Amino acid sequence: MAAFRSAARLASVDRYVVIGNPVAHSLSPDIHARFAESTGERLHYDRLLVPRGEFEAQVRRFFAEGGRGANVTLPFKEDALRFADRASERARLAGAANFLARRGDAIEADNTDGAGLVADLARQGVKLDGARVLLVGAGGAARGVIAPLLDARPLQLEIANRTASRAEALATRFAALGAIRALPLEAIRAGGYDVVINATSTSTHGEVLALPQDVLAPGVFAYDMAYGPSARPFVERARAAGATASDGLGMLVAQAAESFMQWRGMRPPTEAVLAALRARGA
Ligand code: ATR
Repeated sequence: MAAFRSAARLASVDRYVVIGNPVAHSLSPDIHARFAESTGERLHYDRLLVPRGEFEAQVRRFFAEGGRGANVTLPFKEDALRFADRASERARLAGAANFLARRGDAIEADNTDGAGLVADLARQGVKLDGARVLLVGAGGAARGVIAPLLDARPLQLEIANRTASRAEALATRFAALGAIRALPLEAIRAGGYDVVINATSTSTHGEVLALPQDVLAPGVFAYDMAYGPSARPFVERARAAGATASDGLGMLVAQAAESFMQWRGMRPPTEAVLAALRARGA
């Protein structure tokens, strides 16, 4: 009877999940629970660990059972875009989706990562309009944020990558959207940038991104898209060089806020959530 009651209660609450592999570390359930509490929205947000190769079957089942929406993390962001019936332009340009929502009979995909990055930079007082921006990295993380960065109208967006050909491919892919060009990692010049964004996987792999000397200097805002302890070495190195620096925790919270906004039709406050996560050591 008790089990029946709790199942019935769950069935009456809108259900959301974050899908990934691994997913146990994801802060998204905590973030969305705090958003729900602060806005008075009734919803249930859980983790869904999906074995590789089972994304489509499991997501289909989740939505068939009444699920309302999902965030999608590694390694399924490309599968999520393929799975959806419709996708936003920014998700199609990113070639990946971190957001799925049921709208009527269709599943829609979006990518809120880039909007999260731009919102977090704005929150920290970084002006992208007219800025010289360097994006380091040319993998999925970089590709996901380029269109929203160009939308913010930087004077120039340069993409540098260890494997130069991958940066060149991205510059070509996004050329129609704004002032973007590729350069080899060694060609980055000191004094050339107002904002430097680390979109490589170095921090998450326990490495520190090696940049030519003096690229991180006073007057530069350095941002690592990774967050928590893994981003600390990059952030500390940037600060030691005189730059202002931030990890990507605010981007995580802001992309979640953008997801929440699209699902629930209201923008949740983010500052208190960010402060709570920081207080917990994230
Ligand atoms: P993600 O989806 O997280 O972007 P990815 O597609 O594997 O992961 O891309 C990882 C990015 O980090 C790439 O740009 C990679 O450079 P290469 O294209 O040359 O592989 C970059 N990267 C990883 N380790 C690096 C290192 N030690 N120094 C510089 N760049 C590195």
